[in-house]
Amino acid sequence: MRTVEWDYDRNGLWLIDQRLLPAEFRKIFLQDYREVARAIKDMVVRGAPAIGAAAAFGMALAALHASGSSREALLTFLEEEAAPVLKASRPTAVNLFWAVDRVLRAARNATGGPDAVREAILREAQRIADEDVETNKRMAEYGAALIEDGDVVIHHCNTGALATVDWGTALGVIRMAHEQGKRIHVLVDETRPRLQGARLTAWELEQYGIPYDIITDNAAGYFLSRGEVQKVFVGADRVAANGDVANKIGTYMLALAAYDNGVPFYPVVPTSTIDLSLPDGQAIPIEERDPAEVLDIQYRGRPATPAHASARNPAFDVTPHRLVTAIVTEYGVLYPPFAPELRRVVEMAEKAR
Ligand code: MRU
Repeated sequence: MRTVEWDYDRNGLWLIDQRLLPAEFRKIFLQDYREVARAIKDMVVRGAPAIGAAAAFGMALAALHASGSSREALLTFLEEEAAPVLKASRPTAVNLFWAVDRVLRAARNATGGPDAVREAILREAQRIADEDVETNKRMAEYGAALIEDGDVVIHHCNTGALATVDWGTALGVIRMAHEQGKRIHVLVDETRPRLQGARLTAWELEQYGIPYDIITDNAAGYFLSRGEVQKVFVGADRVAANGDVANKIGTYMLALAAYDNGVPFYPVVPTSTIDLSLPDGQAIPIEERDPAEVLDIQYRGRPATPAHASARNPAFDVTPHRLVTAIVTEYGVLYPPFAPELRRVVEMAEKAR
């Protein structure tokens, strides 16, 4: 299963519509880069690596359908019109900006006319997608070594195949440990307000045959304080140069509770999610989404909130690096001090490209 997949026969992009899961598995087919931007905004596709790959293919669509016959006109359109639209779709996950800039560089470096530029963009987008799967499997091997037979772990949001091109980051680690024969039980944070844990992570765990229980987000501290949890695994949307981690709202409280109870807290982070241009987490832009996501819930079939209630809906928070035990990357497990380690692995990734 690929969450984000280019169709070479029909020249378009398939996305699994994650708004419908677990009730319905349906894919949608897109042929316009503006539709891709909308799909990212509306969370048809979500999860940092998945939106990065989707945006890269969005750039391929923009190039494919751009009018104008000169190479320069095409590059100008891509840089000044298509890239800003895709980049404006969601602000926090740095993979989006990383992927769009990567295909733009490939476009500039392509020698030849507009067709050569188009081919270079699609090739680079496909490379981003394929690398993501390979990177996730490498992280999973490193991360699975941290898991012992019989561990109970808490997982927040959805970081599985659905949040990436395939396999997943934190959930990929759990999946690898399971495939290695380790018995593992997952406490799945339901992840209010969009329920990525209850809807998507639970759905994936069922496919993999991994035992789990869904817990309310506010139950995590209870289980941690009772010594019932050995490790916490989460993903990330952006990691600053000092190791501060932006991830799905609620991650910070989970990290605090893990820290207070001496339970290791591991973000699983591909180098494409590391942003060395930001010194610390305070500089990471945090998306604030529509309050309706918080308010539009029902209790026994009726609205759960008063008709004119207002709400705040930050989609992410920042966990300071002092609460982080280690960061799992495709170049190994990094321990504090994080700043030089993060620099080292980003340099390794840049060299490998
Ligand atoms: O708002 P979402 O569902 O896109 O948020 C996703 C997360 O916060 C994930 O933990 C993160 O992107 C890492 S997924 C591999």
